[in-house]
Amino acid sequence: MSRDFSRIRSSEEYHEAMRASIQDPARFWEAQAERFTWMAKWEKVLSHDFERPEVKWFLGGKLNITENCLDRHLGERGNKLALIWEPNDPKERYLRLTYRELYEQVCRYANVLKRNGIRKGDRVAIYMPMIPELMVAVLACARIGAIHSVVFCGFSAQSLADRINDAEAVAVLCSDGMFRGAKEMPVKTVVDDALGQCSTVKRVIVTERVQWSVNMVAGRDVWLHDELEHVDADCPAERMDAEDPLFILYTSGSTGKPKGVVHTCGGYMVYTDYSFRNVFQVEESDVFFCTADVGWITGHSYMVYGPTLAGATQVMFEGVPTYPDAGRFWQIVDKHAVNIFYTAPTAIRSLMAHGIDHVLPYSLHSLKVLGTVGEPINEEAWHWYKSHIGKNRCPIVDTWWQTETGGILISSLAGVTDEKPSHAAYPLPGVQPVLLTPDGKEITENEVEGMLCMKFPWPSILRTTWGDHERCRQTYFSNYKGYYFTGDGAKRDAQGRYRIIGRVDDVINVSGHRFGTAEIESAINAAKGVVESAVVGFPHDIKGQGIYAYVVTEEPVVDAEAMRGNIIEAVSAGIGRIAKPDRIQFVSGLPKTRSGKIMRRILRKVAENELDKLGDTSTLLDPTVVEEIKAGRI
Ligand code: PRX
Repeated sequence: MSRDFSRIRSSEEYHEAMRASIQDPARFWEAQAERFTWMAKWEKVLSHDFERPEVKWFLGGKLNITENCLDRHLGERGNKLALIWEPNDPKERYLRLTYRELYEQVCRYANVLKRNGIRKGDRVAIYMPMIPELMVAVLACARIGAIHSVVFCGFSAQSLADRINDAEAVAVLCSDGMFRGAKEMPVKTVVDDALGQCSTVKRVIVTERVQWSVNMVAGRDVWLHDELEHVDADCPAERMDAEDPLFILYTSGSTGKPKGVVHTCGGYMVYTDYSFRNVFQVEESDVFFCTADVGWITGHSYMVYGPTLAGATQVMFEGVPTYPDAGRFWQIVDKHAVNIFYTAPTAIRSLMAHGIDHVLPYSLHSLKVLGTVGEPINEEAWHWYKSHIGKNRCPIVDTWWQTETGGILISSLAGVTDEKPSHAAYPLPGVQPVLLTPDGKEITENEVEGMLCMKFPWPSILRTTWGDHERCRQTYFSNYKGYYFTGDGAKRDAQGRYRIIGRVDDVINVSGHRFGTAEIESAINAAKGVVESAVVGFPHDIKGQGIYAYVVTEEPVVDAEAMRGNIIEAVSAGIGRIAKPDRIQFVSGLPKTRSGKIMRRILRKVAENELDKLGDTSTLLDPTVVEEIKAGRI
């Protein structure tokens, strides 16, 4: 039998796996898929056409992902810890769930969903803080074949409503409220506000967390703890086709409202498990801690699914890195003897800014592997992480991927392939990145820069954007015919290592979170007295990119602070506080071409304080506006 490369342990094996995956991708991925429990085996491994686009993996295969995350482990790992949940307040008791306990909780929650009329194929919105019930709720949806759409709890009622309506969700799973650092915040009331605009939702299932009295609408809202009284822990896993949707996750693009990226059951399962085990080089006894929120793709792939598929033990943290102080992550690492720690560069930069005194009290000796995700990591932060957290003995994996890719595509494999600061480095075997010139020619040599594309599908590539396949085609498959376009620019060094430069479209990456400039502008334009606006990113020490907004108002601004407050309120209501502009400059007009297009290049240069690099402004309708913008820079 050929090698299955299920665990790549050396640089030679990496190269061997890479070769095998390119020579015969179907065979390579089939070997990975054979690790799982299938209710019926696939008839064909792959069919794909990047132009339509249509990609299918493990065609005809039947499975349930939760059977692989849970039931499959009950024999050997039934008593192994699946989840260690660390609450926001370190004084509150932490919670531990074995695989058997997690299995039972998921089955019971799944029965609650069924009892409440939720069926296979229904969309279910989940709006919950980082409590164990969130993980359980997501898996419970997958258990019965309902398509989950998790919405990050920092999004506003309007954003939640938009996502519920786009997916025509029939139910919302939420909590009463949430703890976040020193604050207690509402959750259920945000859901109530959103539901004022949603007609498809028939049921709201509320988990008690903060014990607030909340408004329960008769006939629509139920408490989880009441419902659990009526169900047992036996819930057979629904038989799903490999290509049935598993979930929708909304993400921002350069145009319009966020789109619902759709991932399917079979390919996503195979890839998240494969990438999790190989990138982090996870051993059976390891404790993994990913600090992401389940509301983002990282939480989906490397909390809910990857670690449970691999039968790993993981820590889930409810709170924030700076509460009760900036040593919280390190305190958790020591407390639960974490071996693998995965976080975002923005968190590293912010903790770095709080100073080393918050790290020194902790030994961190359990750590073996460190990871980063979500945005480029600058060298200074990389070295701080390497020396102060990893004590110069832990490899760092800088993992590049996207909501659309479902799993990590470019990253070194911890301790197996070499690392280089600020470089995501090498593609995983089975992944075929290319750099293209702006006119779509493949650049084959090294020490080059280009548009990052993929020339062959991997199992967890997005299948569509919910309800709008044409948008999926246009966004990812039309710029460069026959390729998947990532939206990122990248460099490749002499050794073939990739370094991601950043987005080449109108997407801003704030603290590792994606926002479309158009989306923020439309939220700003909803503020009273605003005529129009233009938003660009600018380098920000902690967030990576900050949001710089140029705003044209109806009347000259008299009280700038009050007007800025209005605008921030409008963005908080339209999207959420996470998208509030860092800088707001009032201008009398925007630099537009004669055809009315905003010349963002000029606005970007001003925001970046590169005033001598504005380029040609002669094609502007009114070039004088540029002087005013330069002079008013904040
Ligand atoms: O620009 C890249 C950046 O984040 C984008 C994807 O954002 P999202 O779908 O929200 O997923 C984030 C978590 C996977 C990419 O297009 N990005 C992600 N990881 C890295 C990165 N940029 C540089 N280095 C990374 N490791």
